[in-house]
Amino acid sequence: MQAWVIGNWKQNPATSHDVNALLDDLLTAVDTQEQANATGCQLMVAPSCIHLASVSARLKDSPVLCAAQDISAHSANTGAYTGDCSAQQVADAGATWTILGHSERRQYHQESHDCLLQKMTHALTQGLGVIFCIGETQAQYDAEETLDVIDAQLAVVKDLLAQQSELTANLSERLIIAYEPVWAIGTGKVPTVQEVSATHQHIKQTVAGFADSLDSMTVLYGGSVNADNADSFAADPMIDGALVGGASLKAESFLAIADAFRRATS
Ligand code: PGA
Repeated sequence: MQAWVIGNWKQNPATSHDVNALLDDLLTAVDTQEQANATGCQLMVAPSCIHLASVSARLKDSPVLCAAQDISAHSANTGAYTGDCSAQQVADAGATWTILGHSERRQYHQESHDCLLQKMTHALTQGLGVIFCIGETQAQYDAEETLDVIDAQLAVVKDLLAQQSELTANLSERLIIAYEPVWAIGTGKVPTVQEVSATHQHIKQTVAGFADSLDSMTVLYGGSVNADNADSFAADPMIDGALVGGASLKAESFLAIADAFRRATS
């Protein structure tokens, strides 16, 4: 199975100059190391909305895909929604995927089940693939509620399948689940590989139960993945790649993580 290593740049870098410097490093290294799709690890980066068009233009002839970090829940195309960017607009800017439901969006923007169902529908309507983030908080982890939380969050996929059957053809190729324990994001704390593996197995089984066509769902791990711990995650067959925050802001660490998954799949 092909691995995926996706960089979530969040609200970084601060300037276009710094974005270009990061891309310079990334593209030079991708070129020289032949870190291409063909090597078994698909790379993708998700810049902030303001940099999406320029980043996707620079990545156009490279093996690195470009994703948005979010899209509007209100309309798939246009409307009076100040501050929003629609699925159509991010696709027009060159994104082919979007992250949805990141825990920072859930926390700071109160994204609900209904909101995420709308966003997922809009993304698929406009031909965007979706990286759907799920994961439990520290308190939920401590209370051993991880699987219950995940089941509740995955209900978005179940409801999508129930409501939008025409959108869900080839969904297994257009949907990636990213399991990101909230307490592991940006903290340097990580669950054990065994914990992640068991949770991924649960996610894969749950999604396969929604539709036969989803029997080989790609499930990434995210939360403090770095060049030092990537090998241990990559070695587990349940972990199909990584969603990387902090370590994606340096080409060297991002590509070292990709290398770990590439080696593990070869
Ligand atoms: P991190 O972020 O790698 O900095 O922990 C991951 C994420 O938020 O996707």
